[in-house]
Amino acid sequence: MKIDIDLKEKSYSVFIDELAKISLPGKVAIITNPKVSGLWLSYLLERLECEQKFIITIPDGEEYKNLSSVEQILEQLFSSKLDRKSTLIALGGGVISDITGFCASIYERGINFINIPTTLLAQVDASVGGKTGVNNRFGKNLIGSFYQPRAVYCESKFLSTLPAREFGAGVAEAVKMAVTFDKELFEYFCEHDLKSDSEVAHIIAKCVEIKAGVVARDERENGVRAVLNYGHTFAHVIENLTNYSVYLHGEAVAIGMVMANDLAVRLGKLSANEAEKIRAVLAKFGLPLSYKIQSVDKFYEMFYLDKKSASGKIKFIMPKGIGDFFVSDDIDENLVKSTLRAFQ
Ligand code: NAD
Ligand code: GLY
Repeated sequence: MKIDIDLKEKSYSVFIDELAKISLPGKVAIITNPKVSGLWLSYLLERLECEQKFIITIPDGEEYKNLSSVEQILEQLFSSKLDRKSTLIALGGGVISDITGFCASIYERGINFINIPTTLLAQVDASVGGKTGVNNRFGKNLIGSFYQPRAVYCESKFLSTLPAREFGAGVAEAVKMAVTFDKELFEYFCEHDLKSDSEVAHIIAKCVEIKAGVVARDERENGVRAVLNYGHTFAHVIENLTNYSVYLHGEAVAIGMVMANDLAVRLGKLSANEAEKIRAVLAKFGLPLSYKIQSVDKFYEMFYLDKKSASGKIKFIMPKGIGDFFVSDDIDENLVKSTLRAFQ
């Protein structure tokens, strides 16, 4: 299956379960980590035809998504004499695709890159849409660029080796898109366990279609793309308060969606019954649903660290029923604090 991302001269396709052969001109550098390379590098190498192949491995983990890894990658690209006809391939999860895309965007002012995402989260979200970047001590993804890949290859078989928790984290990001954009997809999550490759391929395709539509309308997040951050306003505070060491990002997003739903119910945009349905789907995939807030005032203050907060206003993204959304940066502080108190 092939889904096109329509971005005029930057358009490209996302191929789902179609990685038979990739032929590329010039040199190719594959950026990966030791875990993914041990599992899936040979699979890729058997299918890749090009002039010369280089493998660049960075250590596994979000803590290596930084400028020091970028330096190391660039160093190896220059030593291997890659030029503007060369291509980078990201083989790994969202950490690898974000860092590879960023390196591609700055190496000799920009060379081609291809994403081959190996986690569900990266297949449904991170590998598509061209947000690239790394973290620094001031926060996550604060250094980066919008730079689109030339193609994306999602293989559902890669997920056969993915730990269950990582799979659940990907489901959370997929449910996020269903709740805000696609009621039918949400029902699919209610009715299926995602135990078969065909079920998983179905949800990857649906999420990529949603993301393709959003990115085509708003590549640089001036409007509708912000909706992909449903649950994230709360999740970022939870991740920050727990030092990024308790929850996977998708798990924090699951809790964040439950909190955002509570607020939406208070505002009359979501029924208690709909909120419960969303909760039940997240629970079915083993996601955490609650976080004990110690200080409501501190939690509230930390919303202001969010990249989406501007001019002293906090932007909340919430479902409007299931399959639609509403965004507001004008919600009464007391109402938000009532939601936070419900999680004390
Ligand atoms: P990750 O890249 O850290 O991968 C999670 C773990 O799974 C790692 O240990 C990895 O080595 C391992 N792994 C990867 N593929 C595997 C496989 N097939 N089998 C077994 N293990 C495998 O994390 P992630 O959840 O994929 O991505 C999170 C990152 O993505 C964050 O840095 C986040 O900021 C970024 N992100 C970016 C976007 C975007 O639009 N650019 C969107 C969402 C998230
Ligand atoms: N993951 C959010 C976005 O791509 O905009």
